[in-house]
Amino acid sequence: MATCAGVSRRLAGGLHALLSQASFGSGPGFAAASRSLAKSRGDLGLALATATTTTTTATASAGPRGTSHAPPSSGREEGSPGTSRAYGSARTEKDSASTTYDVGCSSNIRWHESPVTRDARERQLDQRGCVLWMTGLSGSGKSTVAFTLEHLLQEKGKVCYVLDGDNVRHGLCKDLGFTRESREENIRRMGEVAKLMANAGIVTVVSIISPFAEDRDRVRSSLGADFHEVYVKVPLSVCEERDPKGLYRKVREGKIKGFTGVDSPYEAPRSPEVTLEAARGEPADMAKELYEYLEEKGLLKF
Ligand SMILES: Nc1ncnc2c1ncn2[C@@H]1O[C@H](COP(=O)(O)OP(=O)(O)O)[C@@H](O)[C@H]1O
Ligand SMILES: [Mg+2]
Repeated sequence: MATCAGVSRRLAGGLHALLSQASFGSGPGFAAASRSLAKSRGDLGLALATATTTTTTATASAGPRGTSHAPPSSGREEGSPGTSRAYGSARTEKDSASTTYDVGCSSNIRWHESPVTRDARERQLDQRGCVLWMTGLSGSGKSTVAFTLEHLLQEKGKVCYVLDGDNVRHGLCKDLGFTRESREENIRRMGEVAKLMANAGIVTVVSIISPFAEDRDRVRSSLGADFHEVYVKVPLSVCEERDPKGLYRKVREGKIKGFTGVDSPYEAPRSPEVTLEAARGEPADMAKELYEYLEEKGLLKF
């Protein structure tokens, strides 16, 4: 991983110049996008890929809710009726060695564009893919509200999936601990999976402490308008009183070190899209509030 990070840093040095030469973007907004790209190891390669393969069918255009540095797969086409391309027509130009590139530690690869656009997937589901990123202290109610919302959406015929921090640590992230570096990598992976799921048209709810603003902001930069930060704002005293997993007790007994809110910082969001004051209501009320937010934003219809 250290080698990849080193490679990424070297690539970042030349990133802006490469992006400036690319045919699809320029100007201060684009420069800002490239800076945020440089911060993200995952997106860095894709940006380079896009910048160096202008002959492919991929585009980096900012769709209505896409980002200027969305992966070529975003499939969002402005003005598109949302239909799929003709089957098998995704890549008709002759393959050429010059259209492969390196991404992170992977060499000679290329994004394979799908003939099924994101709009087509969303039209089929009659909803819009998005990510509700729920952040808050342990015991604030992120998981409870997230799964209540998933249930509510399922009952309304909408496709939702919860990427819960603890659940994903059972598999994809089980090699990570709770050091600063591991937490950063954990958030990066969650962000990348959430991005794919939003691209699949799914209402994706991420419930994870994500204590560091820098890590959350990196995901926000990567997901653009698909990212909706939900601050589950519950005082530490209430979380500690609830202590659903008995963790605060263990912390007070000195059995756990580096616990968010106690001896590890929690950086509250500065301008979240939604703030849930979960101490003041039932989980069902909070889930309903989020459901209404999704409706207001037009995300529950195509
Ligand atoms: N309004 C509320 N929203 C969410 N959880 C609540 C609420 N009121 C009480 N609770 C309780 O608080 C606890 C929250 O635990 P959990 O959802 O696991 O938190 P987190 O995922 O943030 O660590 C649960 O036991 C839940 O029943
Ligand atoms: Mg939880």
